Formats: sequence, structure tokens, C-alpha cells
Amino acid sequence: MKILGIETSCDETAAAVVRDGREILSNLIASQVDLHSRYGGIVPEVASRQHLLTAIPIISEAMAQAQTHWSDLDAIAVTSGPGLAGSLLVGVNIAKAIALAQGLPLVGINHLEGHIYANWLEGSTPDLPAICLIVSGGHSDLLLMRGHGDYQPLGRTRDDAAGEAFDKVARILELGYPGGPAIEQAAGEGNGARYRLPRAWLKDSDDFSFSGLKTAVLRLAAQKSAKGEESGEAVEDTRSEIEIRLEKVEKADIAASFQQAVVDVLVTKTVAAAKRLGAHQILLGGGVAANLLLRRTMTERSPIPILIPSPILCTDNAAMIASCCYFRLTAGKRSGWDLDIAPNLRLG
Ligand code: KG4
Ligand code: ZN
Repeated sequence: MKILGIETSCDETAAAVVRDGREILSNLIASQVDLHSRYGGIVPEVASRQHLLTAIPIISEAMAQAQTHWSDLDAIAVTSGPGLAGSLLVGVNIAKAIALAQGLPLVGINHLEGHIYANWLEGSTPDLPAICLIVSGGHSDLLLMRGHGDYQPLGRTRDDAAGEAFDKVARILELGYPGGPAIEQAAGEGNGARYRLPRAWLKDSDDFSFSGLKTAVLRLAAQKSAKGEESGEAVEDTRSEIEIRLEKVEKADIAASFQQAVVDVLVTKTVAAAKRLGAHQILLGGGVAANLLLRRTMTERSPIPILIPSPILCTDNAAMIASCCYFRLTAGKRSGWDLDIAPNLRLG
């Protein structure tokens, strides 16, 4: 069964062709990062328009690379939520048009569920029940997956999502956008044990909270730059190279200490839930799962096997949407022509 997946929920226009939910025949992603970086974050109107301009060429290229003709397809999968309303509308309407024109089934997919299905795309078959940790720019969700389409929500963020915290802290430290990779890079040269930043354990709950950590970073950064000003470090043209290097080290240490705190909480809570519920496996997904410290620490501390998609399949892509669609379709599920977008859709 060949499925064309379309993903336009945020700032990536993506299209992919996947065979039987597991084999990627093509996987194209047009990132809008350069477009939004000058604003320091995603501008929804700009994102929608860019999807409109990019979607058709990306879909055509995905079909060409997969050497697939329209008549070879079995279904069209599209992200219908959660995400930015205007961005979702572009993908859903294009998917409807193709499905209608080609007489193919249309399946609206939950973007969060898609992130979990990235774990089916690299030759593995996840062992269920599994604990799923989805950490992205908009979500930090912990779920128990009992079977295909069968989820028990355990915890979620009470304030900022993990990726959102990375993005905001990167802004505080003036490291650029998107924040996750920028923090990871800066942290690579820093000492994560330098500052003991707060961890919100939220006792007896599987929920997360990252806004206190973000505020602690803000305070720490303000304190450090005030010290710098007192000692004259902020006067640009009089700074020696050693002073400039010191400032860089300071930022790197703060970035590393922040990253350490986020990873510590994510791993501890995920592993605890897995043990408590007798899960067979831990599955990760979402952009933050591309983070190397998270990947390494989860691997080291998990008592059960874990699966983490390759970084390119952790961040937004359409192959995961097509994979999820395969399992929905084989369970007899498909959407009607009245498929609507659901910007606040949850999982479970
Ligand atoms: O899943 P995703 O591509 O889009 C959403 O569904 O939100 O996740 C994007 C988020 C952003 O907040 C980005 O900063 C974060 O994932 N991210 C990372 C890394 N790569 C992307 N966070 C930490 N470390 C990374 N290497
Ligand atoms: Zn995502």
C-alpha cells in the first residue's frame, strides 16, 4: 500500500511517499526557518502563504523521487491538527483536492500521533505497550500506547513545552532561532554542572513544567550581564579577546546547565512511568528528541529497550504522517470530505 503524506502544521512544508507504513520511498521537507528567523519566531500568516507556494512543488518532487504515479497511490494522508490554523488549512485543502481528483481515500492525521509513528520507519517494530514521550515546539506529552490508536494520556506540560523552553532560552541568551539546535551547539562547549538550575518534579504527577526553569535562566543571565557591565565588559570597543571569550563561555555554561535540567526531568519522569506501568519499550518523538544529550541520557538510564527516530524523522516530516495513516487505514478508518482542521487537537 503506497500512501502520500502531506504535512503543513507549522513551518515545514513536507511531502512523502511511504510503502506499507514502514518503507520511505521519498521524504521531502522545505523548511521556512530562514524566512522566520529574521522575526525570531514563526509568523503564522507568512507560514501559511509559504505553504501555499511550496506545497505543490514539494508534493510533485516527492512523487517523482518515489517513482510513483497518481494511479499507484492507495490513500492521501494529511495532518489535520494540532498546529497553526492557516498552515493546516493549506495542507488539508490540497489533500482534499488530490484525493477528490484521484478518487483516493483521505485520512486526517493527528500530528502528535505522527511523531510516534516515526518509530516505525527505520526497520523496527515497536513493542507495545510503550511509553511515548513527544517533545516538540508545542507539546511535551507523556502517553501510554497500548495498541494502534489506543493511547492513555499520562502527563503534559502545564506551561511551556520543552521545545518552546529551548526557543525562549535561546532568545534570552541571544543564540538565534530555532533555539533547540542553537542551545545544543552552545552547550557543547559549556559545563552543564556549573549552575544548578531548578527542576520541577511535580511530585506524584507525570506532568511537566518548564517556565520556572526559563525564569531562572532569565534571572541568571540578567545577573551575569549586570556584573559584566559593572566591570566594564559591556563596552564593546574596550573589551579584550579574553573578555569576549569569557562571555561566550558564560553563555555556553548557562546553555549547558539549562539543557541538563530539561533532559534530567524528561528522562527521570519517562523512565519512572515506564517502570510503574510495566511498559515494554520507550518511544521518543518530536523535534526535541533530536537532542543528543536527551538521546544519550535516555538510552543510558532506561531499563527497557528504547527507540528514537533519526534526527530528521524527529523534527516535522510527512513520512511519519503517511506511516500513521497506513495503520489507521488498515483499521478501517478514513475521513470524510468534511474533514476539518483541529488546531488544538490532543492525543488520547
Ligand atoms: O516537532 P517539531 O519539528 O515541530 C513541532 O511540532 O513543534 O519541533 C520543533 C521544536 C523546536 O522548539 C526546536 O527548537 C526543537 O524542536 N528542537 C530541538 C532540537 N532540534 C529541534 N530542541 C533541542 N535540541 C535539538 N537538537
Ligand atoms: Zn511536530
